[in-house]
Amino acid sequence: MRLGTHTLTDGRGLLFGGDYNPEQWPEEVWTEDVELMKAAGVNLVTVGVFSWARIEPEPGARDFGWLDRVLDLLGAAEIAVDLATPTASPPPWLGHRWPETLPVDESGHRLWYGSRNQFCPSSPVYRERALAIVTDLADRYAGHPTLALWHVGNEYGQICHCDESAAAFRTWLQARHGDLDTLNEAWGTTFWSQRYSDWAEIIPPRRAPYMINPTQQLDWQRFCSDALLAHYQAERDILRERTPGTPVTTNFMGLFKPVDYWSWAGEEDIVSNDCYPDPADPLSPARTALTHDLMRGLGQGRPWLLMEQATNGVNWRPHNLPKPPGQFRLESLQAVARGADGLCYFQWRASRFGAERFHAAMVPHAGPDTRLHAEVRAHGQELRELAPVAGEPVPARVAMVFDWASWWALEERGRPSDRLNAPDQLLSYYLPFWERGVSVDLVPPSAELSGYPLVVVPNLYLISDQDAAALTAYVHGGGVLMVGPFSGIVDPRAHVRTGRFPAPLREVLGASGEEWLPAPEDRPVRCQWTGGGEPAAHAWTGGAEFTAHTWTELIAAEGAETVAEFTEGDLAGYPAVLRHRAGQGVAWYVATMPEPVALGALAGRLLADAGVRGELPDLPPGVEAVRRGDVLFLLNHGTATVRLPIPHAADDLLTGSPATGHVTLTPRAVAALRPRVQPPFGDPLA
Ligand code: GAL
Ligand code: ZN
Repeated sequence: MRLGTHTLTDGRGLLFGGDYNPEQWPEEVWTEDVELMKAAGVNLVTVGVFSWARIEPEPGARDFGWLDRVLDLLGAAEIAVDLATPTASPPPWLGHRWPETLPVDESGHRLWYGSRNQFCPSSPVYRERALAIVTDLADRYAGHPTLALWHVGNEYGQICHCDESAAAFRTWLQARHGDLDTLNEAWGTTFWSQRYSDWAEIIPPRRAPYMINPTQQLDWQRFCSDALLAHYQAERDILRERTPGTPVTTNFMGLFKPVDYWSWAGEEDIVSNDCYPDPADPLSPARTALTHDLMRGLGQGRPWLLMEQATNGVNWRPHNLPKPPGQFRLESLQAVARGADGLCYFQWRASRFGAERFHAAMVPHAGPDTRLHAEVRAHGQELRELAPVAGEPVPARVAMVFDWASWWALEERGRPSDRLNAPDQLLSYYLPFWERGVSVDLVPPSAELSGYPLVVVPNLYLISDQDAAALTAYVHGGGVLMVGPFSGIVDPRAHVRTGRFPAPLREVLGASGEEWLPAPEDRPVRCQWTGGGEPAAHAWTGGAEFTAHTWTELIAAEGAETVAEFTEGDLAGYPAVLRHRAGQGVAWYVATMPEPVALGALAGRLLADAGVRGELPDLPPGVEAVRRGDVLFLLNHGTATVRLPIPHAADDLLTGSPATGHVTLTPRAVAALRPRVQPPFGDPLA
């Protein structure tokens, strides 16, 4: 990445604003919008995301006059503009005149216009028309004083199975595999008589009588992510050439499966994300923390932008719970605490028409004189007090490995159990660290790990030889590693690594297995801690027994100590959790899916072994603690008022009041504590 958020935050502090769609409103409303924005402390708005048809009402026409006026109005109010290329949603004329630009699903049905996002990433006509409007947009607004950021497209994720995509897939496969023999080998086409004798026979995975070739499927997912990336890059290159000093982003969607964000993030100047926690999901706070940490990881630790969130209920779930007073503020401050330099919303003013007219906004239908807008204003004002954290890093000493290709491969059909999925595994391992106020960096398997005392691999079903060797070297060099079940099973072609599993990690784990045994769904798997020969085992396990669920493995120790074992059924007496000293470090393997309290005990033990501490000891349930720069954020996601002892005298940036001895947090309250003197809060080594 070339540019950071500082080009935006210098002189502005944290960014606050949202998607602004003035094309839905008469111009007199724009004047009121800008006045309200100023009063609310808005300093960045995203304009033009869905404006293609407005700018180009018919092929080749251009109408920029309205956009000139919008940008000038915002500029006069010193509101920076995140200008979107409007290419996420082509006008109806594109699909009408060039139906080949419309995407085709896996059954061969074309998806029509009348909604949004109806384009084929591999369509040359779409590409040509999109790049033409991007070029004119960039030429028009290059040098405009209020242009601060480019927002390319919107939430890339389109997939198309058409013939043009098939042709592009073949070209991609030729680059990856070279010749047809290599492809046949990689795809294992001797199975089910799938051998290809001509490149022309190769198609995307389309609706077929039974399970599709898994490597074809995996390569297709890689291709789809790359095809969209190529389109993004083409737009970005035009913008960079014409406005070299203006950073470029595109809004991600958290743990979004179709797009490998590790391969995308380096192509942006700033990482940005859209995040819509479900108010009905009790795990939302931890899930959201995890996606925020992922965004920080994608930017290699740099600040990122929360591009879209909601002030209240969304309208796209079947039953949309509202957010109680204080909730959106809590969520927004959670993002600040976890490294966001921008807190933006979808959208500024609630639409009167269109599919999203019942989606929350910063200005609701009822107008500015409302509880909700008052909260928006207050939040905009208080964010100014947090300007000192803009640009600051979130120090973390634990790394958690996550990989898209492994996710894709893991979740193909036809495995021992569909119940093992990558994001759930990730969340279950993340949760105990979050509960202990331990910050975690999300990293790709290829990351440099040596700086982290503790590395957790919740699942890496697919692993390359190189990445397995790096994990092994990490442990030998003194690291503490924990690996979750069904890891190290296939190579990058999704071929099973034969021999006892996990073959490439067998040596470092000091253990190996021979059978996967999914557990009956109605019966917990009983286990007991054995302590691995340590007399004080129960000091950290918190009890003698625990349960696990869904998944077990038949494992034998080969140098590792058995820390926990299964206690009933055919696996009774076999290891469930193992620990192995290898070189200077320690590797742990978990051969099942332990209940949260047991994963918590493991996390606590590993943190102690690695010498990593949480920001505050003994956090009550629902309280999140995270440090950004030297400011300790405490966020109460729970339903009870809590009183937390704090070790150092501090000032709360949000209230301006001193905090000594303890902090009281009512439900949804937040404290942002800046210590008066060194040492700061938390882990002094971080
Ligand atoms: C996002 C999208 C916005 C809006 C929003 C509603 O996915 O980028 O345009 O649709 O969701 O929650
Ligand atoms: Zn297509």
